[in-house]
Amino acid sequence: MKVCLLAYKKISSSKKYYLNLVDELKKRFDNVLLANIENVVLKVDSTGLTKIFYKNQRLDDFDVIVPRIGPSYVNFWQLVHQELKENTYIPNTPDSYKIANNKFLTLMKLNEANIPIPKTILSIDIELAKKKLNEIGEPLIIKQMRGSGGRGVIFSQDLKSANTILDALPHKSGEEIFLEEYIPNPGEDIRLFVVGDEVVASAKRVAKKEDIRSNIHAGGAYENYTPSGEMKRLALRAAKKIGADICGVDIIEGPDGPLVIEVNMNPGFAISDVTGINIAKRISDFIYAEANLFWKRKRNKLLYDKLSIKWENVVNNIIRKFNFEK
Ligand SMILES: Nc1ncnc2c1ncn2[C@@H]1O[C@H](COP(=O)(O)OP(=O)(O)OP(=O)(O)O)[C@@H](O)[C@H]1O
Ligand SMILES: [Mg+2]
Repeated sequence: MKVCLLAYKKISSSKKYYLNLVDELKKRFDNVLLANIENVVLKVDSTGLTKIFYKNQRLDDFDVIVPRIGPSYVNFWQLVHQELKENTYIPNTPDSYKIANNKFLTLMKLNEANIPIPKTILSIDIELAKKKLNEIGEPLIIKQMRGSGGRGVIFSQDLKSANTILDALPHKSGEEIFLEEYIPNPGEDIRLFVVGDEVVASAKRVAKKEDIRSNIHAGGAYENYTPSGEMKRLALRAAKKIGADICGVDIIEGPDGPLVIEVNMNPGFAISDVTGINIAKRISDFIYAEANLFWKRKRNKLLYDKLSIKWENVVNNIIRKFNFEK
């Protein structure tokens, strides 16, 4: 089988992890190409077909596509995914990218599945947001989703500060403001790495002393952590609900139990370093098994379609020969 590992320009900063994934895929598949999504083009013309090219190759020539797509590529990736998914094995659903890329949509979906989440109000108007602060209570978190890695996440001890913060926020029309219940915790969150029906690795991310954001980019650090069965089940339910096979589920342990704060479709592999778990191997095992299943089903379906056409022809011939009415 021919595999395309479709990644984006972050490849250069996490090269060792990508190369490890390529190595693991090569142990299972005949042909593996590491490709940059920026070299992909989609083309529509009067043929009625959408053609997708990676450089001079048709992307549908690959039997398997493994996406490692960052948030700003999601709209483009969704078009590619939607178009290729019938005839190429691709983990995750196109919708899972759309959902995870929108933190509020993620919370809506998790809420539908009765997965515990922090109480959150979404507004696009500063004045209205100020009026809603008391529905969240204090302390609270204000999020304005600009960038990632903890940027745009503001902690406010009380409603007075929250009012002044909202007034001082640079805000463009239509820009979303999250008011979120603060989950009391010592600046820690738990990342559970889901592959298929398993949580294959987990680690705690601990914020630096003067912060509440545990993001590695905000100075947080990974620590070893063993999640409870309840927490693992929660992560698996969250992944299933949004349609993700491979993702990172971020959970905060609140005083009344764990709450899911977000799902990440492009979870970093650095968690391998703290856990000693070869994430690339686990992902490759999963993809190999699922791709084989996909192609087996596809071959069976083709055979079935061929047989049913033949059978239809036989019946039609009998009808014609004996002049039966259908
Ligand atoms: N409701 C909350 N209560 C307590 N801490 C929170 C809450 N929301 C976020 N945090 C802390 O702030 C960190 C960053 O928040 P969040 O994950 O929502 O944004 P982000 O990391 O910038 O986004 P992304 O993960 O998409 O890059 C979390 O990892 C967590 O440590
Ligand atoms: Mg986060």
